[in-house]
Amino acid sequence: MLALLEEQLEDRVEFLNEECLPVMIRPVAGETLEALLRTERGPLREILRRYGAILFRDFGLRSAEDFQKAAAQCFEGELLPYLGGLSPRGQVKEGVFESTKLPAYMRITQHHEMSYLPNPPRAIAFFCELEPHQGGETPLADSRKVYKQIPAGLRERFEQSGVCYHRTLYGPKRNFVYAALNRWLKVRRSWMETFLTTDRGVVERLCAEQGGTAHWDGEDGVRMSNILPAVRRHPETGEKLWFNHVTTFLMTPESAGMMRYLLYRLAYLNPLHRPVHATLGNGEPITLEELRTINEAVDSATVRFKWKQGDLLLVDNLQVSHGRMPFRGARRILVAMN
Ligand SMILES: [Fe+2]
Repeated sequence: MLALLEEQLEDRVEFLNEECLPVMIRPVAGETLEALLRTERGPLREILRRYGAILFRDFGLRSAEDFQKAAAQCFEGELLPYLGGLSPRGQVKEGVFESTKLPAYMRITQHHEMSYLPNPPRAIAFFCELEPHQGGETPLADSRKVYKQIPAGLRERFEQSGVCYHRTLYGPKRNFVYAALNRWLKVRRSWMETFLTTDRGVVERLCAEQGGTAHWDGEDGVRMSNILPAVRRHPETGEKLWFNHVTTFLMTPESAGMMRYLLYRLAYLNPLHRPVHATLGNGEPITLEELRTINEAVDSATVRFKWKQGDLLLVDNLQVSHGRMPFRGARRILVAMN
């Protein structure tokens, strides 16, 4: 019965590009997304496992509330809070967030949501409340392909050492020079926003639970570090995935723009004092050359599609990375995680 249903649903899968990322499903005969998710859960899970991302289009979702209900159904009830994450984003409804507050001119490099933490979200749902008219795509990349594209020697270096993530979050006594810089660089968050608390003890406990360390500096800021694998295996398929946050934690002139890259380096001469920094797990630096090679591999696997108002995009956060292209005008994309 399951195989039959899967075949029926497979016939409805539409491919938007050669990479089959995402695959698209549209309603038939007035079908609601709620009904589809309820009756075809098994086949949909299999389609998500195979392709990594499903775009549900034309199901008539209009509001953040519609999205909240649909996402809860996708994730069987549980929408995660955004706890311990880096991106500046506001909560719209319980479990539903703005995708990011980062300015429209910035390209957000490909990343798996919270891959700098030991237990990142398993899946992420995006909702297009207001489609962008120019740019603003959410590019996707299959990290099975990225893994294979990276030269074996470089892969081995990362697989053997893992990655050490360093984060510095400012505190209540924020230095006004950095506060002014941040208005342009848009790279810093406070530990109060990040961990949803004003209690230092809570921050220390959460860091320890995530296998990391926390040290307080003179401005009540916190420096945290933790080591994680650079490559993980998919829990269902066992396939190797390039799964780390290196290209987001480390800028290149190409990824950030030369001016921003240089200013960032000048503002934080000690890399360990930067808002985010990464080294190999053994403490060795990751070179600009290595970063460029990794970025090329990611680029070669990256595809874009045009958002349409009402779209719900369901992404396997372990298998597929996402980013954001710069845009002009209005754009409102919401997210929920599981
Ligand atoms: Fe993200």
